[in-house]
Amino acid sequence: MGVTVLIGAQWGDEGKGKLVDRLASQASLVVRYQGGNNAGHTIVHAGERHSFHLVPSGVLHDGVECALGPGVVIDPMVLRSEIEVLREKNIDTSRITVSPQAHLIMPYHVALDEARETWAVARERVAKASGDDSYSPQGVGKDASAIGTTRRGIGPAYTHKASRFGVRVEDLFDEVTLRDRIETAVGEVNLLLQHRFDHPVFSVDALVDQALSHASFFRGMLADTGDRIRQVVSQGGQVLLEGTQGAMLDLDHGTYPYVTSSSPVAGGACVGSGIGPKMVDRVIGVAKAYVTRVGGGPFPTELEGREGEVLVEAGNEFGTTTGRKRRCGWLDLVALKRAADINGITELAITKLDVLSGFDTVKAAVAYQYDGTESSRYPLLQSEFRVATPVYREFAGWSQPIASARSIDDLPENARVFLRAIEEFIGLPVTSAGVGSDRSAVVENVASGAA
Ligand code: IMP
Repeated sequence: MGVTVLIGAQWGDEGKGKLVDRLASQASLVVRYQGGNNAGHTIVHAGERHSFHLVPSGVLHDGVECALGPGVVIDPMVLRSEIEVLREKNIDTSRITVSPQAHLIMPYHVALDEARETWAVARERVAKASGDDSYSPQGVGKDASAIGTTRRGIGPAYTHKASRFGVRVEDLFDEVTLRDRIETAVGEVNLLLQHRFDHPVFSVDALVDQALSHASFFRGMLADTGDRIRQVVSQGGQVLLEGTQGAMLDLDHGTYPYVTSSSPVAGGACVGSGIGPKMVDRVIGVAKAYVTRVGGGPFPTELEGREGEVLVEAGNEFGTTTGRKRRCGWLDLVALKRAADINGITELAITKLDVLSGFDTVKAAVAYQYDGTESSRYPLLQSEFRVATPVYREFAGWSQPIASARSIDDLPENARVFLRAIEEFIGLPVTSAGVGSDRSAVVENVASGAA
């Protein structure tokens, strides 16, 4: 086996961390290919709790190399503090490399993200208070004119990357280019901050000095991510490309504009790490047995009443990065099938099946109704998706706890029926099912034995 891509098949927070941790133990190299510190996961490893936002959790496995690829955006302060914490725990951080082409999240990106979101929320609240929400035609979800970003500067950093005045890691070693990029960016950003958001402005000199102070930290970490992948594969090693967020948050394929600004999909793994698509031989799609979403945006199977609250509580659905309560709903097989198609998923890993224990009835959307039609296909237009209402298939629930199940035969019959229905609808094998928060609480080889 060579290169495996692991992606979230929903709106992020699918519980990828546990699986990444397991696969990383068999890999020689783990690569992050997109996103930044908007992601977050907590891993309990060797009895100790570790939280990561940027560094791949593979670093906890001795000898595993970890790379931040060119598609990642890096807040230097966050990376430095994560590495500092790892060093304090005597974990060898010399195995962490960074692509010189990765972009840096600058202080003005964070300020802009924060200012835009605050402004949008304030605007919406003022308008709502005066009985007018006409400015928010896509008004779905809480504070719908705001995206509900993590406010970590992700969107503005990718915007500047695409505008060709982003700051790359390599610019820290070229002061002339660095100053030029910052001057161009800040020239525009300060106008916005001052005149639109009533926010203090940034000084170019201070930003350049601050950026240069990170140069020596990055100097010893630079490596060509794609080259490292090719070397490892040519020596027979395994590489894991670790996606963050999820397919439905993808900039191109997600529920635009309520998306992140990168490409979490499997195709993005090639772009964001520097390899060709033929090197990838396995794409694992991770999906919860239900669905969660944070931030604004459409969510057809969202449960707003008591059942939603039960999922929040049983699944401990609060964000690792922002602490926000996640919106919860039933599994959406229409959206999951879409994710399987656009990623070329080869197998599914279902997580948090145990959270569904105790429901009399468990549901999964198998079609949507919109504009007087019913279809099991993902709608062509976002305007259709926004108004889609789910058509559910109902399954008899199971009452017994399943956290101790380790083989498919240990699962209640009704849970097996549920897993089999997922396999049939998506047309892919479910190769594992998470049944509890413990690292070992996983049922493997589900595909061969679902009811
Ligand atoms: P941004 O990535 O901070 O720009 O946020 C854009 C959207 O992606 C918002 O709806 C966020 O809540 C969502 N988002 C970003 N990162 C994550 C994540 O790791 N899990 C779930 N949602 C995320």
